[in-house]
Amino acid sequence: MKGIILAGGKGTRLYPMTKVVSKQLLPIYDKPLIYYPLSVLMLAGIREVLVISTPDDIGMYQRLLGSGERLGMRFSYKVQPKPRGLAEAFILGEEFIAGDSVCLILGDNVFFGQSLTRLLQQAMENKTGATIFGYPVKDAREFGVVEFDENYNVVSIEEKPEKPKSNFAVPGLYFYDSRVVEIAKSVKPSARGELEITAVNNAYLEKGELKVTLMGRGMAWLDTGTPGNMLKAAEFVEAVQDRQGFYVSCIEEIAWRRGFIDSAQLEEIGNELKMTDYGKYLLTIARETK
Ligand code: DAU
Repeated sequence: MKGIILAGGKGTRLYPMTKVVSKQLLPIYDKPLIYYPLSVLMLAGIREVLVISTPDDIGMYQRLLGSGERLGMRFSYKVQPKPRGLAEAFILGEEFIAGDSVCLILGDNVFFGQSLTRLLQQAMENKTGATIFGYPVKDAREFGVVEFDENYNVVSIEEKPEKPKSNFAVPGLYFYDSRVVEIAKSVKPSARGELEITAVNNAYLEKGELKVTLMGRGMAWLDTGTPGNMLKAAEFVEAVQDRQGFYVSCIEEIAWRRGFIDSAQLEEIGNELKMTDYGKYLLTIARETK
């Protein structure tokens, strides 16, 4: 399975912070926002990842993440000339996907929770169709929203409904089989002029091949859409890290624990960053036995 991180968009809701810096490069506490979704793909065991961003920003992602070799990963990069919608990721990524199945994660989505790896594994096991998630939120109007019938069968997914039919929002984490490329090509732009991911999900639903897995309240899916929400996400990460001593979404640690790199490679990265707590953390775990 391949992974795509969509890290484009104009970030206008975070101006002036994002006037010259891409939103997904801004920090959430001690690491760039994009580390969080990247860590989710790595936890799923996905090692080939395409990063999509704007013509102005793509170079910065290349500088930050490089070829991926140091993490035992393989990163490629693609420009999205204009923010034409999330589903365009599959059209832009057609060559990269190359007939494989694919997981799309939005570059500004942060997940944390004990059941995450299990949910990811289950989604990966589903070889045909699509798997998306439902997450309970207080106000679902800003999201794709799942509509259920009385037996909890999924009836539809609605994009930003004024009157949500449930409080289950669809997070920006989607698993598809290889047909997603053709489905994305057949989607017509919505009223807001975008190729909506919700249209792709409804196409799978019509075929009877959309699985919606509900995430429990023990999972954290954090919003980073406003300065206040970014601060709350940063405080959440700080609180967990400070309490446990384990880092949240540390991509080098995940690469090591998953066996993508060995202890010597982890130590080398740790040494380069050893003037920071982040680097010291890497050095401490590199000297542990797994
Ligand atoms: O976060 C989950 C929600 O993401 C879902 O519940 C919705 O169904 C889905 O449409 C999406 O809604 P948003 O309104 O949050 O999408 P937004 O336009 O803000 O884009 C999400 C991220 O993707 C953002 O970081 C910018 C990036 N993006 C967006 C578009 C439209 C791109 O890289 N390219 C694009 O063309």
